[in-house]
Amino acid sequence: MKDLNQLLVDITRLTARIETQYPELYRFLEEAPITIPSDAQPHLDQPTMAAYLESLKELVRQYEKTHAEHNPTAADARHEKGGGAFAGIRLLLCENPLPPLEEAIEAARAELPRSNFYTEAYSAPLRRLLAERIGISEDHLHINAGSELILRQLFDRLGQQVHLLTPTYALFPEIAGRYTETRMRPENDFRMDLREVAVPEGTTLFVIVNPNNPNGATVDLAPLPDMLRAHPHTYFLVDEAFIGLAGRSVASWVPEYDNLIVTRTFSKAHSLAGFRIGYAVLPSSLAEAMNRQNDAYPLARPSEAAAIATLQHEDKIARRTEQLKAWTQDLARQMRKLGIRTFPTESYFFLADFAPANARTLAWELERQGFLVKALPDEGLGEGFMRITTSTPENNRRFLEALTRSHLPVEETA
Ligand SMILES: Cc1ncc(COP(=O)(O)O)c(C=O)c1O
Repeated sequence: MKDLNQLLVDITRLTARIETQYPELYRFLEEAPITIPSDAQPHLDQPTMAAYLESLKELVRQYEKTHAEHNPTAADARHEKGGGAFAGIRLLLCENPLPPLEEAIEAARAELPRSNFYTEAYSAPLRRLLAERIGISEDHLHINAGSELILRQLFDRLGQQVHLLTPTYALFPEIAGRYTETRMRPENDFRMDLREVAVPEGTTLFVIVNPNNPNGATVDLAPLPDMLRAHPHTYFLVDEAFIGLAGRSVASWVPEYDNLIVTRTFSKAHSLAGFRIGYAVLPSSLAEAMNRQNDAYPLARPSEAAAIATLQHEDKIARRTEQLKAWTQDLARQMRKLGIRTFPTESYFFLADFAPANARTLAWELERQGFLVKALPDEGLGEGFMRITTSTPENNRRFLEALTRSHLPVEETA
C-alpha cells in the first residue's frame, strides 16, 4: 500500500502531466467540482487520497480512450465522419439522425442473396435514373462509393491551386495541393456574396459548398455563370452534399459549360451514409476519364438498390427534411434562450458561439455526459465555436438539459 506522501507525489505528477498534455481536461478539473475539495485538509488521509488518485487515473484513461477514437478537436476530415463506437447521442457529424427509409432497407435486403452477382457496369440503372431526374445525358455522370472518394479524385486531378470559401468542409484544406481562401465572417452571419469574391490568378479549382458546411446556409449562385465564362481555365466545383435540404441545384447547368462540376451524395438528406453512394455531374470528357480509371462496379448491390428505392420516394425524403429543419430551428431557438449565439442555417446543423466558454472544454464535458459535439477546429474563429447537428426532439431536449448543467458562463436571457 502506498503511503500518504507517495500518493501526494503521484497525484502531483499526474496533475502536472494533465496540465501539459491535455489542457482542456486540466481546465475541466479546475472548473468542475471534482478536484480535491478546497476544504481537503481534514480529508488528507491515506484512503481518501488513494481513492482520489484512482479516480484521476480513470478520468485520464477515459479521456485518452475517447480521444483516440474520435478526438472532436482534431482538424482532420476523419473526425468529420465517424463517431467511432461512441454509444451516446451524436450531434457532431452532419449525419442525418433519421434511419434509411423502410423501402430502402427492404430493397437492400432483397439484394443480399443475389450478391454473388456483380451489379451492371457503372451502376447503370442508378445512373439512368439520376440522369433522368437531373435532366442531363448519362455521359455526364460518375458514380462512386461516397462523394468523399470522388472529391479526392477530383482534387488529385485538378486541385493544384484551390480557392476555398472558409470555413468549409474539413476535407478540402487537407487534400488541396495549395489553397487560397476567402473568409466568411461571423459578423455577416457567414453570408457570402460571390460577386465580391476575386478568383486568384492561377486558380485551378474554385470550390463552393452549397449549402455550406459547417454553417448550413445557402450561397446565391446567380453570379456563377459569369464567373464560369470569365475564368475558362478554372474548374468550379459546387459540392451539393446538402442540396436535399435547401438551395437551388446547378447540376442541370453542367452540359452548358466546360468548367463546371457538381458533386452530390445520398449520405445526407437521403439517410444512406453507411451505404456509401455519391456521384458527380461533370463535363462528359472528364466523366469518361473518371469512369475509365475507376472500378466499373463501384457500388455494392444493396447500396445501389437502396439508392434507387430512396429516389422513388423523394416525397417522403422531402417531408423528413422539413421535419429535421424544424427540429434544428427549435434547438437553435432554445440555445439562444440559454444565451448562446447561433448563426442562420437552412440545413439540419448550425454553428453556435459559446464564447466566453471554450468550445473544446465544453465539448469534452458534454462528451462525458454522453453527447458528442464538435468544437470547430478553425483558428480564424474564436474559441467558442461549435457545430451542432440536430438529433430527435427527445435527444435535443436531453442535450439542452446537459448544456444547462454544464457551467456555461452565459446569462439566461428570456
Ligand atoms: C460538404 C460535404 N461534402 C461531401 C461530404 C462527403 O460525404 P460522403 O462521402 O458521405 O458522400 C461531406 C460529409 O460530411 C460533406 O460535409
